[in-house]
Amino acid sequence: MSSPCQHELIKRHAACVVWFTGLSGAGKTTLAFALDDALRRKGIHTAVLDGDSLRLGLNSDLGFSPEDRATNVQRTAQVSKLMVDAGLVVIVSLISPQAESRNKARSLFNEDQFFEVYLNTPLEVCEQRDPKGLYRKARGGDITQFTGISAAYEVPGSPHLVLQTQALSVSDCLERLLAMLEPALKRR
Ligand code: PPS
Ligand code: ADP
Ligand code: MG
Repeated sequence: MSSPCQHELIKRHAACVVWFTGLSGAGKTTLAFALDDALRRKGIHTAVLDGDSLRLGLNSDLGFSPEDRATNVQRTAQVSKLMVDAGLVVIVSLISPQAESRNKARSLFNEDQFFEVYLNTPLEVCEQRDPKGLYRKARGGDITQFTGISAAYEVPGSPHLVLQTQALSVSDCLERLLAMLEPALKRR
């Protein structure tokens, strides 16, 4: 009996982007990896593109000026496009504070291939969480152009999903994310 060819081994599902946007501390990285894990357990091929990781390599030349943030988002969108074309579910977790940049990213994809998820966590909650101590540094003036403190965040106008992570558990958020993705993942 001949062994199955490579294509038969690859689970068939629709490829798409789940784009998390929100303040530092809103929960982007936590939910990106929780979603990644949940999808992998279903046999879905995924990749996570997280701001902190990208800024160690591909985007290590960029800072936090409005121009650099726009470049960061556009590069990440282009990489996402390549990955979606290769058949992956791509999970992006970037602050991506500028509406224009997010919309440009969205415009690279078909309507049914891009899901913008806004983590609508209040600044006070993010600042209280302060998982990396960055808000403390920003308040102390050690970090400049910090989103929500000394740099703008433009709230999304028409996200596919809004999650209030101060009121929902990670598993509640995950449930809503999987429900959002269900129709897309059934498509071939
Ligand atoms: S952006 O705005 O989309 O280009 O930002 P992103 O690539 O997601 O990078 C955000 C992470 O960089 C760290 N960091 C800062 N964030 C915001 N403003 C300033 N000035 C800043 N300096 C460093 C921080 O770890 C961010 O990660 P998250 O996960 O959001 O906390
Ligand atoms: P970001 O990547 O947006 O900066 P992180 O994921 O690094 O945010 O940090 C979010 C913090 O909030 C983590 O400590 C996480 O455990 C906590 N948290 C509490 N509830 C939630 C939730 N529903 N979704 C995501 N994170 C949550
Ligand atoms: Mg993060």
